[in-house]
Amino acid sequence: MRKILITRAVFPEVVAALSRRFEVVHNAEDRPWPPEELARRLEGVSGAMATVMDKFDEPILAQCAQLKVISNIAVGYNNIDVPACTRRGIRVTNTPGVLDDTTADLTWSLLMAAARRIAEADAYVRRGDWKIAFGVQYFLGQDIHHATLGIIGMGRIGQAIARRASGFDMRVLYNNRSRLSESDEKRLNATRVERDELLAQSDFVVVMVPYSPATHHMIGAAEIAKMKPNAILVNSARGGVVDDAALVEALKARRIAGAGLDVFEGEPKLHPELAALPNVVLTPHIGSASRATRVVMCNAAAGNMTAVLEGREPANPVN
Ligand code: GLV
Repeated sequence: MRKILITRAVFPEVVAALSRRFEVVHNAEDRPWPPEELARRLEGVSGAMATVMDKFDEPILAQCAQLKVISNIAVGYNNIDVPACTRRGIRVTNTPGVLDDTTADLTWSLLMAAARRIAEADAYVRRGDWKIAFGVQYFLGQDIHHATLGIIGMGRIGQAIARRASGFDMRVLYNNRSRLSESDEKRLNATRVERDELLAQSDFVVVMVPYSPATHHMIGAAEIAKMKPNAILVNSARGGVVDDAALVEALKARRIAGAGLDVFEGEPKLHPELAALPNVVLTPHIGSASRATRVVMCNAAAGNMTAVLEGREPANPVN
């Protein structure tokens, strides 16, 4: 029986299904393995089901002669050196499509929480600071309805975010390498503009691009300086797409009104000043974390890995 490795804890039914076909080593303890331990556990393994936390770079790959497939339980795969895998004949797969709506929901949760200062207000109530029942000027936030939403990165998730804007009667601007079809633009009521125009006009700026050297610090001090003072920035894409240090400076100086962040540079570590800022809402990389979606993602990843190991084409090849 070929050996496969599941690098983090996943649902028991997924482990059970894979165990019928493979010898499964499962990190049920869910403690992330440091690179040396990951390399050691990959010895003799034909397939790895992995998360975005598991780095598969050249030094690790050089130690896994038997590895045939890395199946990421994620749509993103910037944790994997894909060209190095291709050179070594290792297939890489991901789980696109199944998490679009769930990630769009979380993005909207951050947008709305930041706009209406939900985390700040929740902390105020819990601390016992709420002494007078109602105040005309308590926790004044930003209107979401009839505002302008700017989406940088109009792939499947970006479009799912745009679809949700119609219920709020928003104007939707987008910036993307390629233009959507006319019918998609019409359906989403979205207008393609240059990035600078999007930054200057949007009340809410959402980034939804994959991380790569080309998107590293795509939103930095210069871009934030172009945003409106009432604007809110949301990053639920990848840490590193936004320059967190520049964002902290802008939030401290109130150059923009707030931010909603699900991903961070160097996560799980935060920029040291981020957690103390009142005008930011923080979640721990949970974009696709609904039970239903995570089960579907695990099953998709298991299916991709099984296909490669059984000599079939996987449903979601990356290389
Ligand atoms: C999660 O971050 C993913 O890429 O699916």
